[in-house]
Amino acid sequence: MDKNVIVVNHPLLNHKIALLRDVNTAMKQFREIVCEVSTLLAYEALKDVPVEAREVTTPLESVTQYVVKENSVAIVPVLRAGLGMVNGVLALLPTAEVGHIGIYRDPETLEAKEYYCKLPENIADKKVIVLDPMLATGASACAAISMLKSKGCKDIKLMSILAAPQGIDKVRNSHRDVQVFLACVDRGLNGNGYIVPGFGDAGNRLFGTK
Ligand code: URA
Repeated sequence: MDKNVIVVNHPLLNHKIALLRDVNTAMKQFREIVCEVSTLLAYEALKDVPVEAREVTTPLESVTQYVVKENSVAIVPVLRAGLGMVNGVLALLPTAEVGHIGIYRDPETLEAKEYYCKLPENIADKKVIVLDPMLATGASACAAISMLKSKGCKDIKLMSILAAPQGIDKVRNSHRDVQVFLACVDRGLNGNGYIVPGFGDAGNRLFGTK
């Protein structure tokens, strides 16, 4: 696979994916695990977070230590399921700003359309991580990335938990510069656009809707 598609492979992550797949995993646990998986993916996706040198005085002496540069990262969940990943990323980087993008599929043209967009100031100067747990057709993620590019963003990553090969191909073909972080890649999509074997509807499972 492309070097810009990083499938994080770890037994603890695989264990959590099994729990997310299980139809008997109820909303509370599903939500908690999405959050935990997001923390583990963020650990990888933030490896190149901007840093700056800081002088720190220990009880013994002073030392130069690198710390995360303030205001350098924004996360942007794609509504609605992306919201489930926010707290998991903030657990590692509590000072990240959070934008929101809402996208729906036009039932006639099947095109992805924006219905909501609220982004942090100066987002063009930040490292931006788009959160979309299910990379199915890739249409929403691609539309969100295009929207961020239209606002001047140049450093964009996509974090998804589960992907179908079709979604990965779409992002690679439309946005070759965007690194994609995943916990798992599944077989494909069913006739309704669900990832199979998948987790089902992640938004419904996160928020207790049908
Ligand atoms: N969105 C979901 O929530 N689940 C899928 O399988 C595909 C898209």
